[in-house]
Amino acid sequence: MDENKQVIIANLPKGKLQESDYTLKTAAIPSPQQGEVLVKTIAFAITAGTRAGLQGSASYAGAPKTGVVMNGTGVGEVVESRSGTVAVGDIVVAPTGWQAYSVHAEGVVTQIPRNHNPIHYLGPLGVNGLTAYFGLMEVGRPQPGETLMVSAAAGSVGHLAGQIGKIKGLQVVGVCGSDAKGALLTQQLGFDAAVNYKDSGFRNRLKEVTPNGVDVYFDNTGGMILGAALFRMNVAGRIACCGVVSQYDTDHPEPGPKGIPGLLINKRITMRGFLLFDFVDAYARARAELHGWIDSGALQSLTDEVAGLEAAPAGFVDLLAGGNVGTRIVRL
Ligand SMILES: NC(=O)c1ccc[n+]([C@@H]2O[C@H](COP(=O)([O-])OP(=O)(O)OC[C@H]3O[C@@H](n4cnc5c(N)ncnc54)[C@H](OP(=O)(O)O)[C@@H]3O)[C@@H](O)[C@H]2O)c1
Repeated sequence: MDENKQVIIANLPKGKLQESDYTLKTAAIPSPQQGEVLVKTIAFAITAGTRAGLQGSASYAGAPKTGVVMNGTGVGEVVESRSGTVAVGDIVVAPTGWQAYSVHAEGVVTQIPRNHNPIHYLGPLGVNGLTAYFGLMEVGRPQPGETLMVSAAAGSVGHLAGQIGKIKGLQVVGVCGSDAKGALLTQQLGFDAAVNYKDSGFRNRLKEVTPNGVDVYFDNTGGMILGAALFRMNVAGRIACCGVVSQYDTDHPEPGPKGIPGLLINKRITMRGFLLFDFVDAYARARAELHGWIDSGALQSLTDEVAGLEAAPAGFVDLLAGGNVGTRIVRL
């Protein structure tokens, strides 16, 4: 019989996250009670927002704790069921965490249709794809022909948000941390331009590629990229505050950029934070539209795979340093 391999949070990070902040453990495979299912993990996503959870800055995630399985969304197969609605053999999305087996109440898992690729439920049809969709469409409220700027544009949320912008008829500019990522955005994903924020000429280059200003800024990073975006925003522009990845991997997050509230007032900019859960009632509609775009080839899902549970901590440290392209997935 298998054992349940788990990645446990050993320490809350001091400064930057280290592989040694995690430890591997084996435990007994849990048994489902009435109304529950046992899920064997196929794969899970490593996502930047979980670093905010370890920092204690994601209030929705509660206080960070050690000695528990690292949290995360996975897809897996139901291998034992005491549920009337979810059967053995069903493939589901669940908050598996970083472990091989997990038990869930039947209402917590989402069954994946047989003809869908389960891995898409960690990317474009999962948390990050829905975040890109609602952040852009509901918070950014773009109009065809407008200019969209996206930060962390080659990451999971970012590469999807930018492509949805193209589908909706926008001029799309991606900001990312290397020229190779920028080339991928423009040559493979159809972005109109890309700018490397690590270049000394970043602000000038951003100005060059946004000659008509920016109408919608999809902000995954906060920090100095938000500071630069504020100066490029048009009157009545919208900033969708999705995340602050530039300030997660530290004990000393920087204060917000200059220009708030002055620039917001003068340009009548709307700056609005959102959490994906705000749109839970509309997930099915969004998934149907996203699935249609994947089927037609209009939306490409880039994934970046790491093999084996043991590799997850190093994969997370590397993601925070910009090592990933698209959605980083750990396949068991
Ligand atoms: N509001 C919500 O409900 C919600 C839901 C899901 C995710 N999010 C947010 O979405 C954002 C993206 O998450 P993700 O899971 O898709 O991660 P991701 O973009 O796949 O990975 C993180 C990326 O951030 C970039 N980065 C790291 N340090 C940076 C810095 N100092 N300045 C600028 N960029 C930096 C890196 O790319 P480079 O090479 O470009 O540096 C890295 O690839 C996060 O802020 C997350 O919190 C929000």
